[in-house]
Formats: sequence, structure tokens, C-alpha cells
Amino acid sequence: MNICNDIAAVRQQVRAWRQQGLTIAFVPTMGNLHQGHITLVKQAQTLADKVIVSIFVNPMQFNNADDLANYPSTMEQDCDKLVQQGADCLFTPTPELMYPEGLENHTRVDVPGIADLLEGALRPGHYRGVSTVVTKLFNIVQPDIACFGDKDFQQTALIRKMTSDLALPIEIVGVPTVREPSGLAMSSRNGYLTTSERAIAPTLFAVMQHIAEQISAGNRNFTKVIEKATNTLNSSGFKTDSIDIVDADNLLAMTEKTQRVVILMAAFLGKARLIDNQTVDLH
Ligand code: PAJ
Repeated sequence: MNICNDIAAVRQQVRAWRQQGLTIAFVPTMGNLHQGHITLVKQAQTLADKVIVSIFVNPMQFNNADDLANYPSTMEQDCDKLVQQGADCLFTPTPELMYPEGLENHTRVDVPGIADLLEGALRPGHYRGVSTVVTKLFNIVQPDIACFGDKDFQQTALIRKMTSDLALPIEIVGVPTVREPSGLAMSSRNGYLTTSERAIAPTLFAVMQHIAEQISAGNRNFTKVIEKATNTLNSSGFKTDSIDIVDADNLLAMTEKTQRVVILMAAFLGKARLIDNQTVDLH
């Protein structure tokens, strides 16, 4: 695996592959890799000749300094996992390389609407950080395809809109959420959970499944459904941050035209803020 720490090295690698007529898929990450990330790499390998992964804990998307300072870094293990999976290239820039004049002085990419809704309203500036860094990474790597997890439903929707609005010649591929056998969605933040919290964590998935079943059975009283789910989570040891049921195609309130809704959940369990989501077709 070719490990690149600077932009010129990535460009050189990409140029060499392009000269051979090879296609390139890209998987951006913040490291602390788990099976969810590795599944994105596997998917990318089925879609292109070469796969480039980036590991960059992007300071622009953290609206909480403690969260950034505590974000787990496991570069050595991450490299081993990527080599084992057969990734072809790893790009590991520093904040100085990505933001040489500091965060405040860097050009920003804003995706209107979607960046301010839901999770965006709870984490001001977060999605601006994501769209800015992903645009920059896309411009450095210039892939044919980029893979993103459904786990971060709103993020993938944001990237799709940004790519379409800016006419970026990159196909965005969404990959289904990878879960533990308990149903818990894999996440770097699961590492913050204590043993007893780990036993409780799958309840988030169970409650989400229950909501999905109610919607599938025709229940449209979302306010009541959300209220009950919030109570269940809070009495199980969570502190519910948000539960929303919205149109999966635009993340706005459901209308008579809505064909598919998405249940978006965010809840604190101890120090960890866990998120999950599930789409439900309306018949
Ligand atoms: P990170 O949280 O490291 O996630 C990198 C990619 O892995 C994202 O596309 C995310 O949706 C996907 N992913 C994480 N857990 C997953 C799971 N259990 N199943 C499937 N996919 C999963 O998301 C980011 O980094 C950053 O915001 C980034 C896009 C890299 C921009 O900085």
C-alpha cells in the first residue's frame, strides 16, 4: 500500500494509474477503522481497479473541542487493516497540510438546506466542515467513484447534493450500515462505551426497529411514536438527543407525496453520542 502524506504524492500515484487506464474509487474516513469502514473498502474494490482511502480527523467538522481532542487515533492498526484488505493507497494529511492558513481563513463549501436541518441544527458548522473537506479531498484524489456509509444518512445525502450541484464527475455510492450481531451500528464512538453501556447500546437499534414496524403497520402518528420511543430510551439509560421521522428523499416533513421515510436517531449513552437510522417504504 502506497502511503502518501502530501498532495503531490497522491497526484503522482493517481496520474500513474490513469496512464494505465485504471479506474479509481475513494473512501474518505477519520480513521479508527472498524468493519464498517472495511466494508466500504471492499465495496470500492468491486467498483474500481484501485482504491484510495484517506484518514484525516477533520478539525473543521467538530463543533466541540473536547470531541476533537478525544477522537481516537489508531494509525498503526488502521494501516494493518487496510493492507490486509488490499487497499492500494492511503492518504494521511495533517491539519497543517489541509488548512495551511488555519480553519477560519480557508474557503468553505456550504450546501444550503440540508446542512442546517436535523443533525445540522444540533451541530452548527458540522456539515460545512464535512462538505469543505470532502470537496478538497475529491479535488486531490479525483476519483471516479466515492463510497459513503448509509450509517451517516444525512452526510451521504449532503455529499450527493454537493456533488450534483457542483457537477463533480464522481459517482457517489451508498453502502448499507454494518452492525454488530446485537444490531448496534459499528462506530468509532462505540469505543467510548463502558462494559455495562455496551450491554444497553443495542436498545437503540431495537427501539428503531419497533418504530419501523409501527410505520410499516400504518401508524402515522409520528409525534406519539417518537414520544414513546424517547421514553423507552430514556428509561433504559440513554439521554435521547433527537428522533426524527422525515421524507427520506429530502429530509423534510412527510407529505402526501412521500414514498419513503427515514427514522433518524441520536442518543447519548454515557460519553458516547450514538446515531442510527433506518428507511421505511410507505405503501
Ligand atoms: P468516519 O466517521 O470515519 O466514517 C467514514 C465513512 O465510513 C463514512 O462514509 C461513514 O458513513 C462510514 N461508516 C461508518 N460507520 C459505518 C458502519 N457501521 N457501516 C457502514 N458505513 C459506516 O464520516 C466521516 O468519517 C467523515 O465525516 C468524513 C466523510 C471522512 C469527512 O471528514
